[in-house]
Amino acid sequence: MKILSIESSCDETSAAIVEMGEERKILSNIVASQIETHALYGGVVPEIASRAHSEVISKITYEALETAGVTLDDIDAIGVTNRPGLIGALLVGVNFAKSLALSRNIPLVLVHHIRGHIAANYLVHPDLEPPFLALVVSGGHTSLIEVTDYTHFETVGRTKDDAMGESFDKVARVMGIPYPGGAEMDRLASLGDKKAFKLPSAALNDGSLDFSFSGLKTHIINILHNMEQKGIPYPKEDIAASFTETVLNSVEKKLKMAIERYPHTSLVLAGGVSANSHLRSFMEEFAFKNGMKFYVPPRSLCGDNAAMIGAQAYYEFINGNTASSSLNAYATGE
Ligand code: KG4
Ligand code: ZN
Repeated sequence: MKILSIESSCDETSAAIVEMGEERKILSNIVASQIETHALYGGVVPEIASRAHSEVISKITYEALETAGVTLDDIDAIGVTNRPGLIGALLVGVNFAKSLALSRNIPLVLVHHIRGHIAANYLVHPDLEPPFLALVVSGGHTSLIEVTDYTHFETVGRTKDDAMGESFDKVARVMGIPYPGGAEMDRLASLGDKKAFKLPSAALNDGSLDFSFSGLKTHIINILHNMEQKGIPYPKEDIAASFTETVLNSVEKKLKMAIERYPHTSLVLAGGVSANSHLRSFMEEFAFKNGMKFYVPPRSLCGDNAAMIGAQAYYEFINGNTASSSLNAYATGE
């Protein structure tokens, strides 16, 4: 079946057409990024995001249909992200999808953004099937999730404060790297000494599978401010490498505990930060050492995009999870 999907939870407006069923194909996946606009402010400005989504949503939806070579008559369901995210931004996508679905009498499916990130893997890894353990890391989320079925998810660990991507971006920002600095931190980390700075772990030491990135982030920002005040030039590469190493060690600690508690044979990585080359290699090696199969989307499907929302919409649809007329968007929610 063909699904038209829409994503507008943060600073990317995206529309896609995916073919799901025995064969899985991305027929189009149009992403309009607002990054350049928000970079001027050092982070996402919610009101600007909503307005920018409204300006392009209709255009990119028709572009997605045209690129896929289909019309609305060919669409079997419309999937849209309705949580979690910036409420104003989400509402633009939800209301647009709702009007389209109602006017054309097409079933509407609401998709949880995090489930969408995980589902990006189904588009490219046909052998991946639940149950599995997933680490979802993005600008707004850091969660360890046990996926017991295509539509059953249990969050077993989460960040108590900043998300992993957010902490990469904030450390980058203090070093003068434009928003979002995650990708540049990745590049710099490859050039630096990962043992240059000893930093506090982001793995909470409380027996849970939870993380806290704010202490690590503040610690490193203090180091940077101190060095700046003393006029000592700091090596951005070493900062990026040490920070990344600490993040990986923290993930390793929680993953070891997680696979003991939830012994699955597959490990999945997803979300914007899954584009990070160090995290990808680390996870691959971790899975290999522990006899697990490892899955991660190609970089083109790691960040926010509508194709991943379409993939999850398919599983929600076949499980009967279509939206009623009382549908809404929610800023938070599991
Ligand atoms: O999934 P995503 O596009 O948006 C959210 O749902 O939040 O994730 C965006 C996040 C940003 O924080 C960005 O800096 C980070 O993913 N990111 C990276 C890399 N590429 C993107 N972080 C570290 N290394 C990367 N290579
Ligand atoms: Zn995301």
